Amino acid sequence: MADVKRVCCIGAGYVGGPTCAIIASKCPDITVTVVDLSQARINEWNSDKLPIFEPGLDDLVKQCRGKNLFFSTEIEKGIKEADLIFISVNTPTKNYGIGKGRAADLKYIESAARKIAEVAVSSKIVVEKSTVPVKAAESIAHILQANHRRGVHYQVLSNPEFLAEGTAVKDLMYPDRVLIGGELSEEGNRAIMALSNIYQHWVPKDNIITMNTWSSELSKLTANAFLAQRISSINAISAVCEATGADVSEVAHAIGTDSRIGPKFLQASVGFGGSCFQKDVLNLVYLCECLNLPDVAVYWQTVIEMNEFQKRRFARRVIEALFNTVTNKRIAIFGFAFKKDTGDTRESPSIYICKYLMDEQAKLAIYDPKVDHEQMISDLTHPSISDNPTRVQELVTLTKDPYEAARSAHAIVICTEWDEFKDYDYQKIYDSMLKPAFIFDGRMILDHKQLQKIGYHVETIGKRLSDDVHTGKSTSVP
Ligand code: UDX
Ligand code: ADP
Repeated sequence: MADVKRVCCIGAGYVGGPTCAIIASKCPDITVTVVDLSQARINEWNSDKLPIFEPGLDDLVKQCRGKNLFFSTEIEKGIKEADLIFISVNTPTKNYGIGKGRAADLKYIESAARKIAEVAVSSKIVVEKSTVPVKAAESIAHILQANHRRGVHYQVLSNPEFLAEGTAVKDLMYPDRVLIGGELSEEGNRAIMALSNIYQHWVPKDNIITMNTWSSELSKLTANAFLAQRISSINAISAVCEATGADVSEVAHAIGTDSRIGPKFLQASVGFGGSCFQKDVLNLVYLCECLNLPDVAVYWQTVIEMNEFQKRRFARRVIEALFNTVTNKRIAIFGFAFKKDTGDTRESPSIYICKYLMDEQAKLAIYDPKVDHEQMISDLTHPSISDNPTRVQELVTLTKDPYEAARSAHAIVICTEWDEFKDYDYQKIYDSMLKPAFIFDGRMILDHKQLQKIGYHVETIGKRLSDDVHTGKSTSVP
C-alpha cells in the first residue's frame, strides 16, 4: 500500500478530535477529515468554542482547520476518500442484556465497520483506536470481509490511544510509546508500516512498538487496569493511615522512591473517575469471566470495589464530622469534573459524593471552573443517582463563584484538584461561613496548617490532622 495521503476519523470525541488535530499539525502532507453523526458536535469543532477543553488544543485546531484538518458529518464521503480510517467511536459499558454493567457496548464500532463496508470502493487500512475487548479487531475484519466489494481489501490494525484528558496535547506530542498491532502477514506488515510512517513524522521510531493485534488490544486494557489498581491500592492504604495516624503522602513518597515502584499515580484521592478506568477494568473482568477465569475476574473486580468504598467512606466521613447529620445543611462542593483541567464529568467521584450527601438531604452549592451547569444537572438527575429530579433541583444550587458557594455553608468539600482552589482567600471564605467551619480536602491540595490557623476544622484523605490526634478520635469508618 502506498503512503497514506488521506485519513478519515470516525468519531469526533475526546480521542478522535485531539488525535487528528495532532496528526494534521505534524503531517502537512496528509489531509485529515474527522466525521461524526452528531451535527451539533461537528458545528462545535468548526466554531470558536470547541466541544472539549484541552490545554493547547484551540491553537492546534485553529492552525490546521480548513487547511488539512476538516470536521464534517459527510461520513460516506470521508470514508470513500480515505486511505486509512481511524475508528474512534465510544465504547461505553453495556447497560442492557448480556454482560450488562460490565461488557463494552460494541454497537457503535460495529455500525462504523458496516458503514465502511457499505461505501468503500477502494482498499483501506482500518485502525481501531477506541478501547475495545480483546479480539474486537477480528470482529471488525470479519464484518468488512463478509461485505467487501470486488477488488476492495482491508487491513485492520489496533492502535490504542493512551492520552489522558487534560494533558491530551502533551501526551499526543510526546507519547511514551505508540502501540500498533496487526496481522502477522506481508499485507499486515505493510499496513503497520503505513501507520507507523504517519507517527514517525514526530515520534522516534524506537518509541513505536509493533505486535500482534490481540497483544495490542490486551495491552491497552492492562495499562488502564494497572493504573486504576495503583490508585485503589494507595486509597486502601489511605484508610489504614486515617485509622492509625500514619500519613498517606509520606507512605506514598517512601514507596515511590523505590525505583521498582516509582512515584507516579500514587496520589490518594476521593476515588478515581473518568470514562476509561472503571469501564476498562469491568471490561477485563467480563473478558476473564467469558474465558472461564473466575479467579482472575474476582481479582480485578476488587479494584472497582475499593474505588466504591473510597467514595462512600469519604462521604460518610463528612457526615460524621458534621455531627452525624447534614440534613438541610449547606455544603459547598468545590469541583465537579473527574480531575483538573477538563470539563468532563464521566464517572466523576464528585457525582457520587453529591449523591451520598443528597441522600442525607444536604443542600449543596456546587462550583466548578469548567463544567457546564446543564451537565451537572443531567448527571445528578440521572436515574442511577436520583429517583426524584425535582428533589435534586430543590437541594442543589449551582454557582459560577466559589465565594458565593461557600457563603453561609457549614462545610466545603474539595472533590477535584483544580489549581485555583489553592489560591482562594480562605480567610474571607471562613468569615462568610457558619461556625464551626469545616473543610474536607478529598484531593489533599490545600495548606491544612494554614487553614487550621484561620480556624477551620480540616479533614483530609489519608491523614489525621492534629486536632484529631490530640483527642485520639478515630476518623475511620468501619
Ligand atoms: C486514563 C489513562 O491515564 C490514559 O492513559 C487512558 O488513555 C485513559 O484513561 P484519564 O481517565 O483521562 O486517563 O485520566 P487520569 O489522569 O488517568 O486520571 C483518572 C482518574 O484517576 C482521575 O479521577 C484522577 O483524579 C484519578 N487519579 C489519578 C488519582 O486519584 N490519583 C492519581 O495518583 C492519579
Ligand atoms: P471517546 O472518549 O472514546 O472519544 P466520545 O463519546 O467523546 O468518546 O466520542 C465518540 C464520538 O463518536 C461521538 O461524538 C459520537 O457521536 C461518535 N459516533 C458514534 N458512533 C458513530 C458512527 N457510527 N459514525 C460516526 N460517529 C459516531
